[in-house]
Amino acid sequence: MPRDTLTITDNRTGQTYEVPIENGAIATQQLAKIKIAPDREGLLGYDPAFGNTASCKSRITFIDGERGILRYRGYPIEELAEKSTFLETAYLIVKGELPDRAHFERWKKNVTQHTMVHENVKAFMAGFRYDAHPMGMLVGTVGALSTFYPDAQDVEDLESRRLQTRRLIGKLPTIAAFAYRHTRGRPYVYPDNDLSYTGNFLNMLFRMGERLYEPDPIIERALDVLFILHADHEQNCSTNAVRSVGSSLVDPYSAVAAGIGALYGPRHGGANEAVVRMLQEIGSVDRVPQAIQGFKNGDGRLMGFGHRIYKNYDPRGKIIKKLAYDVFEATGKNPLIEIALELERIALQDDYFVKRRLYPNVDFYSGVIYQAMGFPVTMFPVLFAIARTAGWLAQWAEMVRDPEQRISRPRQIYVGEEERHYIAIPERPPPSDREDMVSDDI
Ligand code: ACO
Repeated sequence: MPRDTLTITDNRTGQTYEVPIENGAIATQQLAKIKIAPDREGLLGYDPAFGNTASCKSRITFIDGERGILRYRGYPIEELAEKSTFLETAYLIVKGELPDRAHFERWKKNVTQHTMVHENVKAFMAGFRYDAHPMGMLVGTVGALSTFYPDAQDVEDLESRRLQTRRLIGKLPTIAAFAYRHTRGRPYVYPDNDLSYTGNFLNMLFRMGERLYEPDPIIERALDVLFILHADHEQNCSTNAVRSVGSSLVDPYSAVAAGIGALYGPRHGGANEAVVRMLQEIGSVDRVPQAIQGFKNGDGRLMGFGHRIYKNYDPRGKIIKKLAYDVFEATGKNPLIEIALELERIALQDDYFVKRRLYPNVDFYSGVIYQAMGFPVTMFPVLFAIARTAGWLAQWAEMVRDPEQRISRPRQIYVGEEERHYIAIPERPPPSDREDMVSDDI
């Protein structure tokens, strides 16, 4: 008779254990019972980079990487990208349901009310070096917000969590725009709350001498769709960072700053920046085959290709590729698109990429669009961070409320030295030339 259990026989002892299977998983904690002697540690699961380990139960985002499906709270990403707005999608992600009209109006008002930042935040940002990377400014400034809102320490209080969520979603575009203006040496522009969320963001980025800034509706909508596509992506590297840091019950500004730090890396949110740099380096369509050969030989990676979860087309990649052409109607074509299309064409026919199931991910075309919109490459991950703030906060709140969660604390398999004894420097032999003990690497 089939049972939802797994039977494990430990061949070291001959003992058999029956472990329950729930939601297609076994609790790794069950392995701790498997011991060779009562006074010895139980069996551990070894899973560097969490390739096959679920760290939480979540109701927010569903991904089926094999079939290329992404849903927020059950709604397909394609429908949200076509019919929703970023602020409405953020509400859905944070609260679990789409709002009715009254709730949506209240949410818009509540977020808009928090678009301003304390003047000292502005002064703090003015202190960054003239050439500071905007993502570095974002990490530092969002972290610094925790000093402005000490009430945020009360993470177990629902009202406090709601307030910080509205504050962070409201303020991220302002801080991001200030960071951009800083790199340009331009005065910071205050929010205009009569504009939409993305319209106001464009205003704070690009307004010059005009009395009222009018965003281009095509760019405003395209940016809104890009924000929808980036709003959450279940347990990715930065969300895991937010959850892990947040599990210490630190305030959400510190936890989100950790997420922004994770997003800064080229294997995560920095990938679209890396894609544009790569396309620029390739330089022309006729050099694509040579570049592909280089990637296959291990000379760098084809940036914007491959994904830990999607082993089929990334559904966001499909939407973005289409969006690129809408944007080019307003901005003129970005010449890098031809190189990107040729890379995609060749890679999708090449055995190396096909065998490893490497397809374009969300970042492959987003950088080309952002560049056409006039963003410098250093701003690309910043745009990602604005959108992902909704997901980070929903995931953080879910983690705080989850009675099964405790402080995140992975185990390790120690493979270092056995016990040895201290020798004073004069008697100490020269260090061995083990790779991790290079003496000038201090
Ligand atoms: N170009 C060339 N080869 C690649 C690429 C790539 N973009 N991605 C993976 N591979 C190869 C690896 O070399 C490896 O080959 P091997 O088995 O011969 O050693 C194999 O494919 C598996 O790669 P892993 O690194 O083990 O795959 P993982 O799931 O850990 O990595 C990742 C996923 C980080 C996205 C990877 O595909 C990559 O570096 N891509 C480029 C960066 C990128 O686009 N990142 C954006 C991700 S989406 C996001 O963060 C929003």
